[in-house]
Amino acid sequence: MALMKANSPAQYDGIAREYTALSKKDPVKQFVQYPETLRLLGDVRGKRVLDIGCGAGLLTEQIAGRGARIAAYDISREQIFLALSSQPKNQSITYLVSSPEKIAQALESLGIPTEFDVAVSTLVLFYAENARQLSDFFKSTFSLLTKGAKFVSILFNPDYGFMGAAKFNRIFTRENGKSTVNFLDSGQNVVASATHSDFSRADYENAAKGAGFSKFEWVDLEPSIEGIEAMGKEYWADFHESPPYVGFVATKE
Ligand SMILES: C[S@@+](CC[C@H](N)C(=O)[O-])C[C@H]1O[C@@H](n2cnc3c(N)ncnc32)[C@H](O)[C@@H]1O
Repeated sequence: MALMKANSPAQYDGIAREYTALSKKDPVKQFVQYPETLRLLGDVRGKRVLDIGCGAGLLTEQIAGRGARIAAYDISREQIFLALSSQPKNQSITYLVSSPEKIAQALESLGIPTEFDVAVSTLVLFYAENARQLSDFFKSTFSLLTKGAKFVSILFNPDYGFMGAAKFNRIFTRENGKSTVNFLDSGQNVVASATHSDFSRADYENAAKGAGFSKFEWVDLEPSIEGIEAMGKEYWADFHESPPYVGFVATKE
C-alpha cells in the first residue's frame, strides 16, 4: 500500500479508501474507539443524532443500527461518497458534505430539523487547525443540540505518555504545536500518516465553554472484552498506563 498522509481535513479526499480499509481492521478503532463511543452515547433508540466528521460511516452505521435517526456530515466528498456506497437500506442516515460553519444551513435546505438529542465526533476535533476552528466545532454543535443534550467526542489524549514509541500499531510524535501519528502494519512498516493540532485539555474546555457548554467530563477509555480476547492481554498492557485516546463529554445544560 502506498503511504497515505493526511495533513488537513481536505486531505481525507485523497486517502479515504485506504483509511477506511485500515479502520476496518485496526484493533484500536474496532475495540476501543467505536465501542467506547457507543458506551458514552448510551441508549440512542429513537433519538436524533448528529455525527460530525463521520468519515466513511463505519461508526455511523453502528449508531444507526441501535435505532437512532442520524444526520452525518464530513468535509471530505470522497468520505461521504464511500459512506453512501455502503449505507444499509434499512437505516435512517442522511449524509452531507459539510463543515461546522455550513451544516445548519445545509440541514435547513434539505428540510431536516436542526435540533438533535445528542452529537458525536470520533477522532475529528483535533483536525481544527487553530483555536478559532476548534471553537467553530463547538459553537455549531451547541446551536444544533436540545437543552440537556450531550456532545460526545473521542480525542487524541493530550497527556499521552508514549510519544515516539511504537504502541498499538501507532507511533505518535509532536513538533511545533502539531502531532503526527504514523500507523504501522504487523511488520512495523508505516502504512499511513496523519498530522493534526496538538490541543491541550484546557484548549478543548475553553472552546466548549466559549460555545455555551457548562458541564464537561474527561473519560478514560478501555479496550472491549472482545478486543482483549482477540488481541491478547499483552497487546493492551500499556494502554491503562497511558491511553492514546480519551473521551470528552460536554453537556448543554
Ligand atoms: C480520523 S477520521 C474519523 C472518521 C470517523 N469519525 C471514524 O471514527 O471512523 C476524521 C474525519 O474528520 C473529517 N473532518 C476533519 N475536519 C472536518 C471539518 N472541519 N468538518 C467536517 N469534517 C471534518 C475528515 O474529513 C475525516 O473524515
